Amino acid sequence: MTLAELDSQQAGSLAEVTAAADAAALEQVRVRYLGRNGLLPAIIKQMKDVPAAERPEFGKRVQAWRAALERALGERVAGVGTAKKEQAAFDCTLPGRWPSPGAKHPVSRVIEETAAIFARLGFTVADGPDIETRFNNFTALNTPAHHPSMDASDTFWLTGDRLLRTQTSPVQIRMMTCHTPPIRIITPGRTYRRDTTDATHSANFHQIEGLYVDTKPVSLADLKSTLAYYAQEMMGAKAGVRFRPHFFPFTEPSVEVDFSCHVCGGKGCRVCKMSGWIEIAGAGMVDPRVYEHVNRARGDQAYDPAAVYGYAFGFGVERIAMVKYGIPDIRWLYENDTRFLSQLA
Ligand code: PHE
Repeated sequence: MTLAELDSQQAGSLAEVTAAADAAALEQVRVRYLGRNGLLPAIIKQMKDVPAAERPEFGKRVQAWRAALERALGERVAGVGTAKKEQAAFDCTLPGRWPSPGAKHPVSRVIEETAAIFARLGFTVADGPDIETRFNNFTALNTPAHHPSMDASDTFWLTGDRLLRTQTSPVQIRMMTCHTPPIRIITPGRTYRRDTTDATHSANFHQIEGLYVDTKPVSLADLKSTLAYYAQEMMGAKAGVRFRPHFFPFTEPSVEVDFSCHVCGGKGCRVCKMSGWIEIAGAGMVDPRVYEHVNRARGDQAYDPAAVYGYAFGFGVERIAMVKYGIPDIRWLYENDTRFLSQLA
């Protein structure tokens, strides 16, 4: 065999590797050229017949051919393997992945429903920032420096007398500082307390504040009828409300507001812990001291404590969502588990 023949044989063998369709065809090429009875061992055996002058060059080319052929075979065999695996992984008979439709989060749902109900009573929605001043969150709300909620163990303090608001009540102050009566607002939003998370507590939760201030008299009876209307719209026509005496620094008198249990209708069950009532909100008549603080912040006397009347209330949004939808653990509202969240779709 001449050097030229050797080169053309090499080119032919590499073309066969390229043309082979699958692993079996590649194996046939390998056996034909590199197998024990293959062409390359035969050529090597016949090296002695090659003229002595050409022999070193001939030997070099045979070795180069073997190396090139082995490399080409190796690459193709690996490629055929992956293609096969890819083919096996794609099962065209499997059903496709459907994008699952989202659902409104229970917290958003309660906020939106509440806004719609109060809109029918003439309340608009106001907004306030999560980062508040000590003045808006505490001082103007008649909360003295020694009050436990001011403590660093109860409140997330930031620098410069700022904090993550512990309640939505500071929006009352913001509204009154910028507007004169009449005011009818609700203000939903996030609130923060240093609570350890458990089934009913979270360091970050939501409240909906309400504020009604007017120069015409408004009383605890108006507050009660407003909240009774809300209870019925939110929880069903049979829902009732009850007020229990309580204390908040910024309302006087203050009450805690219970809704009658919508599950048992007031007879007593597990949801209401056998009492027939579920605690929902804090409320009361705006304390005259709050108006005094507001006037000081405004620099005028727009809120004459003897001539303005007002009530305020604050709901826990998660609390309403849990009661309304029968959610036993507040953490479910924050885990983003679509198996839970999609149930309200
Ligand atoms: N801000 C009070 C709380 O977080 C609730 C409240 C709001 C009470 C408005 C009275 C009036 O507990």
